Amino acid sequence: MSSHNSHVPEADSLADVETLTDAESLKTYGKDWTKHFTPNPTAILLPRSTEQVKTIVQWARRTKTALVPSGGRTGLSGGAFATNREVVVSLSRMNRILELDSFDQTLRCEAGVITEQIQKYAREHGFYYPVDFAARGSSQIGGNVATNAGGIKVIRYGLTRHWVTGLKVVTGRGEILELNRSLVKNATGYDLRQLFIGSEGTLGIITEVTVGLTKPPKDFTVFVMGTNDLAAIMEIYSRYKSRFNIFAYEMFTDLALTYTAAHGARAPFSTPAKYYVLLELEHESDAYIEQATEEFGRLLEEGLIVDGVISQSPQQAAELWALRENITEATSHKQPYKNDISVRVSRVPEFLNEMTAVIAHEHPDFEVVWFGHVGDGNLHVNILKPDSLSSTEFVERCKKVDEKMFDVIEKFEGSVSAEHGVGLVKKPFLHHTRSAAEISLMKDIKRVFDPDSILNPGKIF
Ligand code: FAD
Ligand code: MLT
Ligand code: ZN
Repeated sequence: MSSHNSHVPEADSLADVETLTDAESLKTYGKDWTKHFTPNPTAILLPRSTEQVKTIVQWARRTKTALVPSGGRTGLSGGAFATNREVVVSLSRMNRILELDSFDQTLRCEAGVITEQIQKYAREHGFYYPVDFAARGSSQIGGNVATNAGGIKVIRYGLTRHWVTGLKVVTGRGEILELNRSLVKNATGYDLRQLFIGSEGTLGIITEVTVGLTKPPKDFTVFVMGTNDLAAIMEIYSRYKSRFNIFAYEMFTDLALTYTAAHGARAPFSTPAKYYVLLELEHESDAYIEQATEEFGRLLEEGLIVDGVISQSPQQAAELWALRENITEATSHKQPYKNDISVRVSRVPEFLNEMTAVIAHEHPDFEVVWFGHVGDGNLHVNILKPDSLSSTEFVERCKKVDEKMFDVIEKFEGSVSAEHGVGLVKKPFLHHTRSAAEISLMKDIKRVFDPDSILNPGKIF
């Protein structure tokens, strides 16, 4: 943003805040997991308290400095990228778990706590935090809230939004807000907590999060099934959904498997298949899993699936999950151009037909890896960069095709970002999902919370 100064914080106002300006740190903290931007921040600030965050925001208002809130930097929409001489505010030093209340079943922590640490801490105390995905070991709870992260257990437990019971934030005006304070019932007007969830660092910096906890499930049994029929993916889902309590339903293609196998994963079975689905059930009882296994047998008999495997131990379940969860890592060297799209679950079969045809027609010479949380209507379409193309050429070509894909999404009343967020990556395409009136209201809301546009300017819109 040309209107923003881009100076390193003055020593007087931010003397106590840890500041990094060395080239390596600027490169590391100036980016997230997206591949097609260049980090270019002026400084990295690492506050240790909400008060320090407030001081930073007040300083940024005075000096008209753009700030980029930054968590675990695993985001896939460029939301935490500082491309324009901004100052990055990393929450990494605010990483303390503050309280677990076993009566209220809540856990309160600073925003920089790693997602997996919350999961582990909850387990150690006899509880379960169910939002889960492959970036769990690096992503932070503040980033999860800022993106309303979804993941692999949304069918059973919902999104991050459903688990946040309280938030502490510093708005772009420099005010500290304590939102909801873990009340179960609170009918006192607008729920500002929900507004901050999914706001991608554009309204305020989240400094503390309280999440709800639940009882741990029993062990899981994982089924991986192969099919050559696109329509079977949702038919299998429908069969299990009507009789079983599904915890996860995911899909990936043979090309995805080729990449994870090259990355060290073992193929689930030797029969080749075009598509694979992964179904996860809780091991409620042996009889329950027996019934699910009988359904599996019927699918084989009817030819809906060509082969399959059922985990016999937690370790085998984890190995099967790796086939799905390791796709992002296994393809990252191909600098994928990522699409993270969704439609209503009931429309997935029709949508898959149309979208696969558009992509095959528009990208005949590119490798396209499909996978995703198909049980939520959420697909990840990853176009892999051929070595012969530069990053710029490749992105330009993908963007042109995006318009065609997004026309299909618009027709299906779907979303151009199911869970990764808009950030920089989906910003040009927001209008395919949100109306002009909605976008205008979102901009008005941004002005209320961040009148000087110092918080993540240029992200979302
Ligand atoms: P960052 O990338 O650091 O930031 C993300 C956004 O939040 C940015 O806009 C940033 O400005 C803002 N932000 C961060 N912290 C704060 C804060 N304290 N206050 C205000 N704003 C803040 N996502 C899913 O939803 N589902 C998945 O299944 C999934 N799987 C993934 C698998 C892999 C291997 C990878 C690399 C990513 C995956 N992601 C997934 C994307 C990513 O992990 C999530 O978006 C995650 O919630 C980002 O958290 P983070 O701490 O890394 O945030
Ligand atoms: C996933 O579901 O694995 C993630 O959203 C990551 C990705 O899309 O690459
Ligand atoms: Zn995902």
